[in-house]
Amino acid sequence: MSEDEHKKEIDEISGVETTGHSWDGLQELNNPLPRWWVWVWLVTIVWSLWYFVIYPSWPAPGGNLPGISGYTMQKELAENQALIQERQAAYLSRFEDASFGEILNDEELYAFAMAGGEATFKDNCATCHGSGGSGAKGFPNLNDDDWLWGGKLTDIQQTLRYGIRSGDPDARVSQMPSFGKDGLLSTKEINHVVDYVLSLSNPDEDSAHHAAGAKIFKEQCATCHGPDAKGMHEFGAPNLTDSIWLYGGDRSTVYETIYYARAGVMPAWKERLGENTIKQLSVYLHQLGGGEDEMANGGSTMQNSAPVEDAAQIEEMSYNEQGSNEGANQPTEH
Ligand code: HEC
Ligand code: HEC
Repeated sequence: MSEDEHKKEIDEISGVETTGHSWDGLQELNNPLPRWWVWVWLVTIVWSLWYFVIYPSWPAPGGNLPGISGYTMQKELAENQALIQERQAAYLSRFEDASFGEILNDEELYAFAMAGGEATFKDNCATCHGSGGSGAKGFPNLNDDDWLWGGKLTDIQQTLRYGIRSGDPDARVSQMPSFGKDGLLSTKEINHVVDYVLSLSNPDEDSAHHAAGAKIFKEQCATCHGPDAKGMHEFGAPNLTDSIWLYGGDRSTVYETIYYARAGVMPAWKERLGENTIKQLSVYLHQLGGGEDEMANGGSTMQNSAPVEDAAQIEEMSYNEQGSNEGANQPTEH
């Protein structure tokens, strides 16, 4: 049968003309497209022509058709970034001049410091200190209230600016002597003092040589670690009584520490990050772990070698360096 013979065939049930196609007796009806569909289709065609004219569209050698609106995504990005920078600048100028006390008491500035500090920490510090600041062997945990160099905002700021044994002229430099390697103590004496050190955090430790060890400690170690072995911030000497170990608290590790000594190095950040970012980081770290109150009396309140009695004076000093004198403000404990 040729198609033409079926052209005018009308389906009995629906009364619609068939196309003449039939599959196993099923006839295809020749219904027109729904009108709404045709309209939508036409509108999309008009839309695409309009879009083609307005926006950059057709790829061509040496660029594309620019479109009459002059819009580009690069331009939009640049505008958005300028807007963000403008908004940041509004905070930054306030942040720059604010003392730590003002930052802690201002919700906006505090949030600004925390957000910036967290982001910078992930990018620059997590490699050594762990993503949550929890540390690793030789790299101190920054989440706890056990500080080597001090946990006041100004202590942290100082540590970050100049680093630790970083080679910067203002870096924190104090270093434990290599008692064994340099022959300051005999192997026997080192073993005695190891016994003593281990007994400080573990009362069950064998204390046969306790007295001998204690004597050596008093003569050789107390200047830095303190007579009570609780550590001293101005020498970066850890507390040896708290079972928190930077390098490890088993016998052989402690022996090794005393024989060879350690000298962890942290880079100076003042050139790389700048004052504002260091300020953000200081606030971030201060709240992460047990940040110490500026007026706290524990440990040392001294900066490197300059003894300063009053913590407020330290605040003033560090702000004078930045040319802004907000020293009278006392940060509140957070
Ligand atoms: C290359 C590894 C390294 C990087 C990167 C690093 N640190 Fe450190 N950091 C150390 C070491 C090692 C110490 C301990 C030094 C010592 O033994 O006294 C330390 C100590 C510190 C301390 C002193 C802790 C205390 O108890 O007093 C602070 C605070 C600190 N780091 C913060 C930071 C911040 C913030 C950054 C990122 C801007 C950072 N560190 C990046 C290695 C690093
Ligand atoms: C000049 C100061 C100084 C003297 C003296 C000194 N230490 Fe230290 N000690 C330090 C510093 C600083 C550290 C931290 C090293 C580091 O961060 O790399 C340290 C670290 C240690 C540690 C490692 C603690 C840990 O958490 O892993 C032990 C143990 C220790 N000292 C024991 C002693 C003993 C015992 C003596 C005396 C025989 C002594 N120290 C004398 C400054 C000193």
